[in-house]
Amino acid sequence: MRVIREIPLLRSVLPATEICLVPTMGNLHHGHLALVKEARLHAECVAVSIFVNRLQFGPHEDFDKYPRTFSEDVDKLEAAGVDVLFAPDETSLYPARQTVVVTPPPFADDLEGRFRPGFFHGVATVVLKLFNCVHPTVAIFGKKDYQQLLVIQSMVEQLNVPISIVGSEIVRDSDGLALSSRNTYLSKEERTEAPALYAVLRKAARRIIDNPGDVLPTCEQASQELTHRGWRCDYIEARRRSDLGLPEREDSNLVLLGAARLGNTRLIDNIEFNTAPSAAL
Ligand code: PAF
Repeated sequence: MRVIREIPLLRSVLPATEICLVPTMGNLHHGHLALVKEARLHAECVAVSIFVNRLQFGPHEDFDKYPRTFSEDVDKLEAAGVDVLFAPDETSLYPARQTVVVTPPPFADDLEGRFRPGFFHGVATVVLKLFNCVHPTVAIFGKKDYQQLLVIQSMVEQLNVPISIVGSEIVRDSDGLALSSRNTYLSKEERTEAPALYAVLRKAARRIIDNPGDVLPTCEQASQELTHRGWRCDYIEARRRSDLGLPEREDSNLVLLGAARLGNTRLIDNIEFNTAPSAAL
């Protein structure tokens, strides 16, 4: 595996074949490695980027304490057979103040955007920069960040970026907790409680399948259940999968998205489902 930190060098080592890029912020876990495995199905050359992107963190968020485990990450990617690791430092990706930014579509102001203003501007901007450095034909993003995936899909469609975006399934621990670098912030007690977010989402999705008219009360009840368990719930919302719009009665492909804080750790998760009466979760 070639580890490249400089953009001009990257251009000279990347092959002329098809490239699949997996953008990450490092602190790699099995969820990232599943993206790498998926990437192998899409191109001869698999490139991973590691860059903790200051632009997507709010002033009071965890940029400084975000876990950075570069040498362990390199070992994991090497073992996973990655061809190129692009790990620019801040000054090579942002040599000057970034005054040109991507404005994400309006649905980015909702859900995560409501609680993390500017987050998707930062994500879309860095992802476009990474695309312009690596020139992939395909890029893979995890569905745990469901709204992020849709923002990137809209960006490439509307800006005619010639890259296919692939969403990869959420990887969970055996107790249901979605893998996330931020899980490392959880105390032992919080880690025991953390799978409740997914359990509550599953229960609510089941209830919506059984009573499709009860979307709002179901989401409210799910949010209250988390509150009673000691979480601070930012949102639990059912949306159309295609564009995250509010579901109408005829919409059957839905996603239930949740974000809540346990102690100082903010976790997000979601579950895709279909409201057809016999739908399984
Ligand atoms: O999902 C992430 O890890 C980040 O938001 C991404 C896509 C690598 C952009 O910094």
